[in-house]
Amino acid sequence: MNDPAVFKDSPWKALDPALLAQAANVPTMLAPEEQQFYAWATSEWMQDKGAVVDLGCFAGGSTARLAAGHQHAGHTGLIHAYDRFGANEEVKTHILYKQGIAPFEGNNILELAIDLLTPWTERISLHPGQIEDQSWEEGPIEILVMDASKTVQTMDAMTRTFFPSLIPGRSLVVQQDYLFWRQPWIAIQMELLADYFVPVAHVPNNTMVFLNTKQIDGTALEHAAVGPIPHDRRLDLLRLAHQRTTEAGFDVSMPMDEQIRTFEQHPNVDRAKHFVQKF
Ligand SMILES: C[S@@+](CC[C@H](N)C(=O)[O-])C[C@H]1O[C@@H](n2cnc3c(N)ncnc32)[C@H](O)[C@@H]1O
Repeated sequence: MNDPAVFKDSPWKALDPALLAQAANVPTMLAPEEQQFYAWATSEWMQDKGAVVDLGCFAGGSTARLAAGHQHAGHTGLIHAYDRFGANEEVKTHILYKQGIAPFEGNNILELAIDLLTPWTERISLHPGQIEDQSWEEGPIEILVMDASKTVQTMDAMTRTFFPSLIPGRSLVVQQDYLFWRQPWIAIQMELLADYFVPVAHVPNNTMVFLNTKQIDGTALEHAAVGPIPHDRRLDLLRLAHQRTTEAGFDVSMPMDEQIRTFEQHPNVDRAKHFVQKF
């Protein structure tokens, strides 16, 4: 599958539910349609031209959905999943225990993720630790999922590490939190890179998917850094991102307005958890 027009009809919504049956055992923070999209991206869009990279896999939920599609299509490459693999008591109670994991001591969830991902072990490589400290030397990346851009600094670092390996005309960047009111810097960065990507899908709740259209080189990376940009310019870029996504036909005006209003009230915030209130 190579024609970006395919995204117009949201074909992932027609995914055979059987494809996700085994992955349903792995707890996830993803919404149902996002789960369908992940499996569709690896089973239908992907052509085995590069790796799959999952930044922020938590207990393996997103990785399992990606792996289910990857296995269904018979792909041979690897899915590289990154996380610090920690969960506090609140996350354990509200996400893990609620989705069927038996209560356990401590905060480390690496062993849990390894166990949960057993059905797809041979196609997954786990990378524990801070993602911003990692390097990438595994060649082209065909599907890049970003779900760990919780601060401007870590997002900028992840972009520097992984974006140069995207394949123009082929690679998807799945921005899981693009529409989340606590992370306006994602839309700001994709606006800075507007010459290198086109938005191809909105997947509720918060995901925007982008097709890479041009090689990410040193010039692109210089453009992409949000860290050095002052608040007023960030706000302008966020407004432009709102304009671009709505003009492209996506029904995202409400969450983008919410992001803009919230960012106006919280100048200079660089970390998701420092946004105290949604406006
Ligand atoms: C929203 S959760 C991901 C949910 C997951 N994709 C799923 O399907 O359930 C974000 C994850 O990113 C991880 N994370 C955030 N920032 C990180 C960083 N700088 N380095 C490593 N992991 C990070 C967190 O540990 C957390 O598990």
